[in-house]
Amino acid sequence: MTDAPSKTPGLEAAPDRGLPELVVFRNVSKQFGSGPQAKVAVQDVSFVVHDLPNVGELIAIVGPSGCGKSTVLRMLAGLSPHFPPTNGEVIAFGRPVTGPGADRGVVDQKYSLLPHLTVLDNIAFGLKLRGISVAERRAQAAEWVKKVGLTGAETKYPSELSGGMQQRVAIAATLILKPKILLMDEPFGALDPKTRLRMQTLLIELWKEQQSTVFFVTHSVEEAIYLGDRIFRMTAQPGRLAEIIMSPRPNEPPDVVRKKPEFMRLTQDLLRKLEEDELGTREMPL
Ligand SMILES: Nc1ncnc2c1ncn2[C@@H]1O[C@H](COP(=O)(O)OP(=O)(O)OP(=O)(O)O)[C@@H](O)[C@H]1O
Ligand SMILES: [Mg+2]
Repeated sequence: MTDAPSKTPGLEAAPDRGLPELVVFRNVSKQFGSGPQAKVAVQDVSFVVHDLPNVGELIAIVGPSGCGKSTVLRMLAGLSPHFPPTNGEVIAFGRPVTGPGADRGVVDQKYSLLPHLTVLDNIAFGLKLRGISVAERRAQAAEWVKKVGLTGAETKYPSELSGGMQQRVAIAATLILKPKILLMDEPFGALDPKTRLRMQTLLIELWKEQQSTVFFVTHSVEEAIYLGDRIFRMTAQPGRLAEIIMSPRPNEPPDVVRKKPEFMRLTQDLLRKLEEDELGTREMPL
């Protein structure tokens, strides 16, 4: 589709590579509640993400608290109460989203592990639901334990793990199901800076291997620019997609890329815009 209807500034910067459309938001709005209590969380958001060959696109979503980042992600995931939208269309794989599906994996800040299961069984859990045999799912889960660097922790329970380890289990438990679309809502938000950098590098490696398309919500501008092929900048009151920023794909670790002039320029530019948005939001009458 070449005539994606939108009033979204920056959408024209989206590369139309003549490829199939993987995700389309067409004039999507979400209002919570009604009457005087009504709250417009997201207003008139439109964008297209194409199905890139070999490795999918990584879309970073940034914007002030409450601008609708999680709402956008969860509408795509088909999760209530964010889904369904009040207006507009959310399309994935060429079909309207009707609810959650294994083709869209979600990782959020809360890790969502099952406390009574070991690391290995948490990672294998989704395969169990799919009816995969014990031997096969344990073998696959063991591979993922290695990939996320948790060798030796297979029989531990979530309460015995650090936040970073729990998040690696959650990522492995989602990626083992090979979702074509990966939805990550501030997945590294609760981690210390060092673990966070390690997790960024790991995510890039796994993402390249898995070839999925990733939507990644973050409050970290550096993380957005490092990880994102495109950055969706949202503004608040109501939540809108204000701009789409292209960001070159990194092929070096975060600590090297951070020192490059182009990276610093993009970071400062985006930080300034986000600060302006914050000020604008604060100045609005209550
Ligand atoms: N279940 C809900 N019921 C009512 N209002 C909601 C609900 N979920 C979100 N909202 C409102 O919708 C708006 C957008 O919320 P959302 O959680 O999508 O923002 P966000 O950008 O993810 O914020 P944060 O950065 O704090 O996570 C906010 O004003 C929020 O209060
Ligand atoms: Mg959120």
